[in-house]
Amino acid sequence: MAAPMIEELKAAAPMISVGVLTADMMDLRGQIEEVEAAGVRILHFDVMDGCFCPLLTFGAPFLKAVKTRLLKDVHLMIEEPVDKIDAFVAAGADVVTVHVESSRHVHRALQRLSEMENVNDPGRGIVRGAALNPGTPVEAVRPLLDEIDLVVLLAVNPGWGGQRFAASTEARLNALRKMTAEAGRDILIGVDGGIKKGNIADVAAMGAELIVTGSAVFDGKDPAGNAAFMMAEAKKGAGGRTLQ
Ligand code: DX5
Ligand code: ZN
Repeated sequence: MAAPMIEELKAAAPMISVGVLTADMMDLRGQIEEVEAAGVRILHFDVMDGCFCPLLTFGAPFLKAVKTRLLKDVHLMIEEPVDKIDAFVAAGADVVTVHVESSRHVHRALQRLSEMENVNDPGRGIVRGAALNPGTPVEAVRPLLDEIDLVVLLAVNPGWGGQRFAASTEARLNALRKMTAEAGRDILIGVDGGIKKGNIADVAAMGAELIVTGSAVFDGKDPAGNAAFMMAEAKKGAGGRTLQ
């Protein structure tokens, strides 16, 4: 059963989910308050274990320590998440996205998420996401369509900096949209990685509904202004979109 929160995310699409990795950690409260005041409604937490991908970032204790009214969108780039998702749900995750490449039992991980309660507000439910690296065929989520509310297409290979947005992303998004429509599943589509001021309108025009962007917002200069710009560009891009 889809998380009730999913309708809110769909209604607000395209929504930007702002990655906190490049925020000024010495003033994280202030940084989050700045983007919240600019209208951001969801924060993206890139959890990397140094095994699934080369970087090691943070775990559930950090997520729990971030006290905010904003939704917590948790992107698990970790090996074998089946028994690890509990800690992130307990730490206040509203969206939990697991990588199809990260477990032989990704279906089980998503099934378990369906059984868990949102600790912030039981009425919200937990949005269940499946993420795909750029090299993974979108076909990989077909067996999971009944267990997910969201598919996130990575437009970069997670864990390596300085990459460009993968040109294959648009075709992948179109193939995914076709698959979910044929299955009669109204699944939210997200795109994550390499999304900056110069291409967010294009990403929104592709039909992305949840757009993850980190360093373009938390750039050490003007998070609020950056967030406002990115939201305006996303709306502009989506406005120009021709329905498939
Ligand atoms: C892959 C992560 C992305 C990435 C986004 O590395 O899943 O969320 O950090 O960061 P930017 O927007 O700075 O490319
Ligand atoms: Zn991410």
